[in-house]
Amino acid sequence: MSDAPMVTVVSDFAAAGDYEKKHTPFITLAPHANGTLVNIEVGHEVPHPNGPEHYITFIELYAGMVPIARLDVSPGVTWPSFCVPVTLPAGTVLRAVEHCNLHGWWAYDVTL
Ligand SMILES: [Fe+2]
Repeated sequence: MSDAPMVTVVSDFAAAGDYEKKHTPFITLAPHANGTLVNIEVGHEVPHPNGPEHYITFIELYAGMVPIARLDVSPGVTWPSFCVPVTLPAGTVLRAVEHCNLHGWWAYDVTL
């Protein structure tokens, strides 16, 4: 039996329920001078709490299996959203992973 945490991957955001939507680290992409601007937002469409009892602890961004960016969140002060410009080839799979202190690990993928 593995000790690895179970990650819920939301593959169809539009079809997800409110519980899934508020935990999904939703990714949007835009052109950038250096390649692509990656925006990650937890709480897209359905806000997630950000107080001392229930909050997002961090968001990480992976290119394939490689971690390339991370945001640590201070509940009530910083919010679980960030933008980062990347230079990566088309076809790269980006995975955003977030951790909720009560509801565990959640992920969302897009392909450049
Ligand atoms: Fe939560």
